Amino acid sequence: KKRNLILAFESSCDETSVAVIEDGNKILSNIIATQINSHKRFGGVVPEVASRHHIEQITICTQEALEEAQVTYDDLNAVAVTYGPGLVGSLLVGVAAAKMIAFAHDLPLVPVNHMAGHINAARFVTDMQFPALALLVSGGHTELVYLPRENEYYIIGETRDDAAGEAYDKVGRVLGLSYPSGKEIDELAHQGQDVYDFPRAMIKEDNLDFSFSGLKSAFINKVHNANQIGETLDSKDLAASFQASVVEVLVTKTKKALHEFPVKQLILAGGVAANQGLRAALTTMMAEEFPEIELVPVPLKLCGDNAAMIGAAGEVAYRNGERASWDLNAEPSLEF
Ligand code: KG4
Ligand code: ZN
Repeated sequence: KKRNLILAFESSCDETSVAVIEDGNKILSNIIATQINSHKRFGGVVPEVASRHHIEQITICTQEALEEAQVTYDDLNAVAVTYGPGLVGSLLVGVAAAKMIAFAHDLPLVPVNHMAGHINAARFVTDMQFPALALLVSGGHTELVYLPRENEYYIIGETRDDAAGEAYDKVGRVLGLSYPSGKEIDELAHQGQDVYDFPRAMIKEDNLDFSFSGLKSAFINKVHNANQIGETLDSKDLAASFQASVVEVLVTKTKKALHEFPVKQLILAGGVAANQGLRAALTTMMAEEFPEIELVPVPLKLCGDNAAMIGAAGEVAYRNGERASWDLNAEPSLEF
């Protein structure tokens, strides 16, 4: 075929997304149908509701993605799909749709790890160079991932309990914010001061792991105790203090990882990578400590879940010969 086109599917959580990617780094279309409004009143994603929405949206998104990219099934080289980690019912919808299209049009089916997708979103702004390190912060994961070469991923540090995004969302609930609350806390943080002394868990420990559940509890206790004695705390200062803790821990552990694993690029990816405080602190640390390493923050629009990133990771996997058979299944707890 003349062109190098991948049709990609993402449905691991509450976004139904289908994209057409050319050469692994050009977005011809990236349709995203978000279900957030259906989940907001429950304060989190309801799996059954999510699956039903994916079923309703996936063929519509596929049509739109092909139309916007001005391609037909005959132009495609492969179909890539997220098969984990994520919600099993949600993943199954994408996997079934991708299989159906690949089978019907005689195209190779390429299995993609959602986390590899987040990292490869970097390809839309730079040529990835190896070895590379990724700080991967999302609603379900917080990991430092080492990439010695293309298509190889090793977790060198990860959270022992809550993911950073999860902590943001739980703390947001206590502040009365709607789900997901990361972006709003980020905005509040910029208007407040770091006046409350929240813990920096594991920051001095000689490993590359994280822990955010203690911070979450400290935050919740602070608010509850204040409520009990009728004291009102400034939510802007609370947000600023919480964010200062999260950012300091993430930046400190990333610095430690970079000393242990010399790399050419540092990629900041995942939903929480959209955090302005984190982007700024990481930029400063990198300029001071590692001016020779290229910092690649994933563009804001591509930090959240989307199929374009699955197409970028899928193209790498496709070129490296990865193929799924027709019995590909959803793997909710898939690891690298
Ligand atoms: O990667 P993602 O879209 O979905 C998962 O794979 O988990 O990440 C969603 C997470 C949510 O927890 C959301 O609150 C958080 O990313 N988030 C943020 C910001 N924007 C989104 N957290 C902190 N600051 C932000 N600006
Ligand atoms: Zn994600």
